[in-house]
Amino acid sequence: MKPDKIPQVRDVFSSKIGVIAAAAGSAVGLGNIWKFPYITGVYGGAAFLFVYLGFIALIGLPIMLSEFMIGRKSRSNVFGAFKNLAPKSGWKYAGLLGVVAAIMILSFYGVVAGWSIDYIVKSITNSFADKSPDELGSMFTQFIEAPILPIFYQLLFMLMTMAIVIIGVKDGIEKYAKILMPLLVVIIIVLDIRAVTLEGAKEGLSFLFHPDFSKLSSDGILSALGHAFFSLSLGMGTLITYGSYIGDENNLAKTALQVTIADTLIAILAGVAIFPAVFAFGIEPSSGPGLVFITLPNVFQQMPGGIFFSILFFLLLTVAALTSSISILEVVVAYFREELKIKRKLATLLATLLISIVGVFCSLSMGLFKAETLFGLNLFDLLDWISANMLLPLGGLFISLFIGWYWGRKKIEEELAKGSKLSRGLITVFLFIVKFIAPGAIAIVFLNGLGLV
Ligand code: PHE
Repeated sequence: MKPDKIPQVRDVFSSKIGVIAAAAGSAVGLGNIWKFPYITGVYGGAAFLFVYLGFIALIGLPIMLSEFMIGRKSRSNVFGAFKNLAPKSGWKYAGLLGVVAAIMILSFYGVVAGWSIDYIVKSITNSFADKSPDELGSMFTQFIEAPILPIFYQLLFMLMTMAIVIIGVKDGIEKYAKILMPLLVVIIIVLDIRAVTLEGAKEGLSFLFHPDFSKLSSDGILSALGHAFFSLSLGMGTLITYGSYIGDENNLAKTALQVTIADTLIAILAGVAIFPAVFAFGIEPSSGPGLVFITLPNVFQQMPGGIFFSILFFLLLTVAALTSSISILEVVVAYFREELKIKRKLATLLATLLISIVGVFCSLSMGLFKAETLFGLNLFDLLDWISANMLLPLGGLFISLFIGWYWGRKKIEEELAKGSKLSRGLITVFLFIVKFIAPGAIAIVFLNGLGLV
């Protein structure tokens, strides 16, 4: 197969807006709405945000462009992409790493998304009313440690993900992204308006926007870089896979820029929805992973019209998770389809089954199998730790090395000439980043993940 030709059977996104919706849908997820606000809280607010923004622009954006280029040039799944572009070499194992990361990430991601569905139900039934912060805390712990209900919701979420992916790229992934992303934007704007009009909102906004760099630890800087990868869906070939469905007429640099801006804006809007409300009700912003599931219900139950806003918030979280989870599942489905040469339906069923089974054990590892640990971590935390701290940075390192050193300037210019006109100066900057800056920075995160720096 000539990599430049789109074979008849290969899916392709039908429009530019569809490409942006799908890729932004992948990027905007639990990372933006659940993780970003709580790590910003933990690392002291605005100073963390500014460093994060720097990493997004300097490293995230160029790596996103690299993934799009690899995908579109190869027209292949993440394993096949490296195999096509660098035949008879070890590069394909970098692709395999992506498939493994996808299986691991979706296993625990589906569990958290399942919690979010349960919290929609809890909001509808007004279950947070008149509960003290401690009671809300134990409500959350009891729920996630239970053996049946979280698994039920996790499997429900995996079924929803499967139902979209099984339809295909254009009529499944692209179509639903085009419906769900505008919905997500509308919900988050409604929540923002509610938050900034609360009395005492100012303090929350200044926590988010007035940096105090003395608060920033080196740990915070490294978390900012790691989170930039996770939030932009980089390092495991999600955007290689989506890139392989992007037509040659698309301007990849522009698309990467638009997706990066959308992801960052939504993260900031999530912060604006959460911090003013948290401060207005006198709650500590640095409560960690429980911020969304414990602190926010506490805020909602004190807020006028809280039930409505609570339902909207957890709906937002679920929708954001869904458009990301379909992109993670698609990495595995495309790999199964093309490498095992099976139909999309069977590939989707197999991938969903495999990930759901690992996911069930992830969920059980919060309660029933809590005592079964490796390196002191239960299965849920272990998969989160290995994928976020090791596989994504390692994948990102390989991707930037591949583009910067294996491909080099001529191939980059050729690929970017399709659909766009990047100046020679910009290409030089890009090349410098993917050759030196990105690998250097990623190496530091990676070594930090291993506890070596
Ligand atoms: N970017 C997604 C989020 O912010 C998560 C994700 C990571 C998706 C890696 C795909 C690949 O939630």
